[in-house]
Amino acid sequence: MSRSCSCLLYLLLVINAHVTTAEERPRRRLKLTDYEASQADSAAHDDSVALRRSGLTGTPEPGYQAAAFRVPTLSGEFVYQPGAVTSGSVVIHAFTNKSAFLECLWSTEASLSSLVEDLPASAQVLFLSLDDSSVSDALWMRERLHNAAMKRSQKEVLSRLHFSPVPVFALGNWIPSVLYSWACTGHNCGLAQTVFTSQGWKMPVIVKRLDARYDWLMGRWGQWWYQLKDAGDGCEPSPSVAGSVAWLSEGNCSFFTKIQNMAKSNASGVLVFAEPGNSIQEMNCVGDECLSLLGLPASMVHLEPSVIHALRSGLPVNVSFQTTPSPNFFIGIDQQGALSEMGWFLYPTFSFVNWQAQWFDFYADLQLKLDLPATVIPVFDKVQMQGDKGAVAVVNLPPDLSGFDTLLLDASLSCPGRRDSSCPPWDHTVQLFVCCDHLGPYCNVELGRWITAFRRGIGRWQTDVSPLIPVLDASKCTFTMKTVPWAMPWIVSLNLRFSAANLTNLSGNHTEKLRPFRVMSLYSGGTFNKTYNKRYLPIKFPVPASTKKVELYAVITGHGSDENGCGEFCVTSHHFLFNGVHSNCRTFDSAGSALGCTERVKDGAVPNEHGTWLYGRGGWCDGLPVDPWRVNVTGQLELSGFESNTVLYFGLFGGKDPDPSQQPGYIIMSSFLIFYK
Ligand SMILES: *[C@@H]1O[C@H](CO)[C@@H](O)[C@H](O)[C@H]1NC(C)=O
Ligand SMILES: *[C@@H]1O[C@H](CO)[C@@H](O)[C@H](O)[C@H]1NC(C)=O
Ligand SMILES: *[C@@H]1O[C@H](CO)[C@@H](O)[C@H](O)[C@H]1NC(C)=O
Ligand SMILES: *[C@@H]1O[C@H](CO)[C@@H](O)[C@H](O)[C@H]1NC(C)=O
Ligand SMILES: *[C@@H]1O[C@H](CO)[C@@H](O)[C@H](O)[C@H]1NC(C)=O
Ligand SMILES: *[C@@H]1O[C@H](CO)[C@@H](O)[C@H](O)[C@H]1NC(C)=O
Ligand SMILES: *[C@@H]1O[C@H](CO)[C@@H](O)[C@H](O)[C@H]1NC(C)=O
Ligand SMILES: *[C@@H]1O[C@H](CO)[C@@H](O)[C@H](O)[C@H]1NC(C)=O
Repeated sequence: MSRSCSCLLYLLLVINAHVTTAEERPRRRLKLTDYEASQADSAAHDDSVALRRSGLTGTPEPGYQAAAFRVPTLSGEFVYQPGAVTSGSVVIHAFTNKSAFLECLWSTEASLSSLVEDLPASAQVLFLSLDDSSVSDALWMRERLHNAAMKRSQKEVLSRLHFSPVPVFALGNWIPSVLYSWACTGHNCGLAQTVFTSQGWKMPVIVKRLDARYDWLMGRWGQWWYQLKDAGDGCEPSPSVAGSVAWLSEGNCSFFTKIQNMAKSNASGVLVFAEPGNSIQEMNCVGDECLSLLGLPASMVHLEPSVIHALRSGLPVNVSFQTTPSPNFFIGIDQQGALSEMGWFLYPTFSFVNWQAQWFDFYADLQLKLDLPATVIPVFDKVQMQGDKGAVAVVNLPPDLSGFDTLLLDASLSCPGRRDSSCPPWDHTVQLFVCCDHLGPYCNVELGRWITAFRRGIGRWQTDVSPLIPVLDASKCTFTMKTVPWAMPWIVSLNLRFSAANLTNLSGNHTEKLRPFRVMSLYSGGTFNKTYNKRYLPIKFPVPASTKKVELYAVITGHGSDENGCGEFCVTSHHFLFNGVHSNCRTFDSAGSALGCTERVKDGAVPNEHGTWLYGRGGWCDGLPVDPWRVNVTGQLELSGFESNTVLYFGLFGGKDPDPSQQPGYIIMSSFLIFYK
C-alpha cells in the first residue's frame, strides 16, 4: 500500500499544480476573451433586470413555468397547455429578414435538412415572424421546410412544425415580452450591419451582414471607419486594397481564396457581396483550407447598387460596422414546462435547435432517474464555488454503507443569475475530493470530475461512481469541490444517491451483486512531454483473498495545447498493461474533431455554449461529467494465493511517446484497481 500512498501524494501535487488552465489554448480560443469581456456589462444589466422582474406579474425568466398560450397557425391553432402528457418540448423561433444570420439559417440546405432529419421526436417548433410581412414569412418558411422534408422523405416531422401568420407584436400573450426582455448579443442575436457612407449621400446606407465563421478567421471589425475599395472577384491579390476593406463579388474561387488573397494584399478586411437573387452565405473554409488561420475580418452582404455606383464613379466610400439590438430569436420550453434560453448558435444552422431539444430529452430522462428510490445525502445545495477554497462541506453518511452497491453523484452547476449571461466563461475542470478517515489511505481521493459549461447555467448530471464506495471509509466525510482559483463563481449542488441496485431491478430478481471492498490507487497524470512515460514504473500487487472480480477504473482528461493541440485537441491513447501481456487501451478518438462533443449532447453535454464546445476533446466535453473508464480485468490477473501481479501505465500520442517542441500539455488522471467480493 505504501506504493499507492505515494502515488496518491503525487496525484494531489499534480492536481494542485494543474487543476486546469483553459487559458493555455489554441490561438483560436483566445480571441473570445476580448469578446466575452465586453459582455460582462450586459451580464450585470441582466441581473438587475432579473431582480426587478422577479415578481409573478413581471416578464418570465428562464426556469419559470411557461403559461398556457394559443397561437393561430396556417393550418389551425397551436395550443400549449402546461402539464399536458403529450407536450414534449417546444422551441419558439421568431424570424426577421433584417438578420443576415437568420436569412442564412433559412437558406442553407444543410441547415434545413438538419431540422427535418434530426429534430428529436419529442420536440415541436413554433415559427413566428417579428415583422409586418408575417403572412408571407410564414408561407415562405413552411414552403422551405416542406420542400426540405419531401426531398428527404421526412413527412412525419411536418406535423411538429407550426407556422404562425400573426406577427409577434400582435400575439397578445407572454411570448413578445420574453423575446424582447431576453434580448442578447452574440452570434444568433442582434442585427449585425454594415454602414456605408459616401460624398453626396444624405443618409448612410445600412445593410445586414453575416460575419465569416470565427474559428478560422481571427479578425474582428473595429469600431472605426474603413475605406472601401473595389477588388473585383478577389481571386488574385490586389495591392490597391492595402489598408482598406476590399469589396468583392462572390464566385470564381472559394471564399477562403478571396480572403487569403486580400490578406496577402494587406487589406484591413473583406466584404463579399451576393450576386442578385442569391442569399447571404456563411463564409467558411473547406478541408485543408481550415488549417490556415487568417488574420482579417470578413463578412457577406447583399449587392448594394449605390455602393457599386459610387465605387465605379471613383467616389470615396467609407464603411463601418455596427450591431443594432434585436429581440431574442429563440425561446425553449423543456419537457417539464420550464422556460429555457436556447444558448449561442455559433453559426447559422438548425442543428443548434436540435441539440437544445436533445438536451431537453436528456434532462427529462434525468428527472425520471432522480425519481427512482435512493438514500439521498445532500452535500451542497446551491453553494458558491470560487477561489482556492472551492466549496467545502462536512457530511454525515448513512451509518452502514454495506447495504448499498450503487453510488451516483447528482451534480449541477448553475450561475449567480437566472440568465446564461450571468454564467462564468470558459470550460474549466471541476474536481470533487473526499476525505473521510484522515489517517486512512483514501483521504482526498478524487470522487468526481466535470467540466464547466461555458456561459450556460443549465447543467445537471448523474455519474455512477459505485466502484469508489470503499473510499467512504468513515461516517463523517469532508467534500471539496474546486475549479481554478481565477474562475468566476459557479453555484454548485451535489447529492449523493446511495441505492442497492439489486432491489430496484424492475424484473424483481434479487440476484446478489458483487460489492467493491477495496480500492488501490494506481497512477496519476502530469506534463505530457518527452519524459511523460519515464515516470511510470510497474506496480506489483497481490489480489486480496476472497476477491471475485477486479476492475480497472480511470478518469483521464487531456488539457493544454502544444504544437499538435495536445492534450485537449490531439488524439492520445492511454494504456494499462497487466502482467506484461494484457493490454487495456483507451483512445480519445474524437479529440480535435469538428463536431465530436455534439455527439455527447444526448448524454448530457450542455449544448449551445459559448466558446468552441462542439469540438471533440481529450476525454471530455464542455458541460459534461468525465466518464470513468471501467474494465473488468479479472481474467488478466492471477487471483489465487500469493502470486504477484503487475500493472504498468503509459500514455501515447500517435502511438509514440509525446515529443512536443513547445508548451507541453498535461494529463489529469485518477486511476484505481477496484477489488470486488
Ligand atoms: C430577405 O432579404 C433578401 C435581401 O434583402 C431578399 O432577397 C429575400 O427575398 C428576402 N427573403 C424573404 C423571405 O423575405
Ligand atoms: C471617411 O471617413 C473619414 C475619417 O472619419 C472622413 O474624414 C471622411 O470624410 C469620410 N468620407 C466619407 C465619404 O464619408
Ligand atoms: C469571373 O471571372 C471572369 C473571367 O475572368 C470574369 O469575367 C467575371 O467577371 C468573374 N466573375 C465575377 C463574379 O467576378
Ligand atoms: C504588405 O505589408 C508587408 C509588411 O508591411 C509588406 O512587406 C508587403 O510588401 C505588403 N504587401 C502588399 C501587397 O502591399
Ligand atoms: C441485494 O438484495 C438482498 C436481498 O434483498 C439484500 O439483502 C442485499 O443487501 C442486496 N445487496 C446489495 C449489494 O445491496
Ligand atoms: C429474472 O428471472 C427470470 C426468471 O428466473 C429470468 O427469466 C430473467 O432473465 C431474470 N432477469 C434478470 C434481469 O436477471
Ligand atoms: C517534462 O515535464 C516534467 C514536469 O514538468 C519535467 O520535470 C521534465 O523535465 C520535462 N521533460 C522534458 C524532456 O522537458
Ligand atoms: C469479469 O471477467 C471474468 C473473467 O473474464 C468473467 O468471468 C466475469 O463474468 C466478468 N464479470 C463481469 C461482471 O462481467
